[in-house]
Amino acid sequence: MGEPGPGEAELRTILEAGLRVPDHGKLAPWRIQILDDQAQAKLGEIFAEVFAHQNPDATQDEVAVERERPTRAPVLLVVTSRIQHGHETPEVEQMLSGGAVCQNILVAAHALGYAGQWLSEWPAFDDEIKRALGHDPTDEILGFIFLGTAATPPAERRRVGLGDVVHEWDGHAGELGPSLAAD
Ligand SMILES: Cc1cc2nc3c(=O)[nH]c(=O)nc-3n(C[C@H](O)[C@H](O)[C@H](O)COP(=O)(O)O)c2cc1C
Repeated sequence: MGEPGPGEAELRTILEAGLRVPDHGKLAPWRIQILDDQAQAKLGEIFAEVFAHQNPDATQDEVAVERERPTRAPVLLVVTSRIQHGHETPEVEQMLSGGAVCQNILVAAHALGYAGQWLSEWPAFDDEIKRALGHDPTDEILGFIFLGTAATPPAERRRVGLGDVVHEWDGHAGELGPSLAAD
């Protein structure tokens, strides 16, 4: 994914769309960080350092891959979730709201003509990376969202169809019901 990425005003529009999500209890249990190329390079150094420390047998090439990992697009967003435990809003709903933030960001970016990719990869689950980004290990990194312009058209893959996952529940307890018929 290359240049151009969304400019400042476009990025604000994308982020505004990201905030317009269902949020039971109005908890806003998510945070978004913007990383420009300089911040991405710093995060890449941290990825490389943590990876090398955790994998003492790693080759220089492998460490270099980690250094490049957060630098693959003009704009990188980190979306995190901080769950309020014991709140009347169930934890799963708080987490889903954060997922909706990520999806809205992707849809808005695509609507503006940009490419977006939502990835986790190992750093999303690493406590040292979370701390380096200013989060608590109990927070969840929901995604690293890369925004830019597709250098090559993304490869298409087999998509799940309506008949694979949609059912018409017909009142028979314990059954999903018949699959939705093909058009
Ligand atoms: C929370 C989340 C984390 C993801 N993490 C990864 C990942 O680490 N690596 C990966 O290849 N795809 C990951 N994906 C899938 C990609 O977002 C995307 O679906 C994939 O690159 C294929 O693109 P497409 O859906 O446009 O075909 C993740 C998706 C979600 C929802």
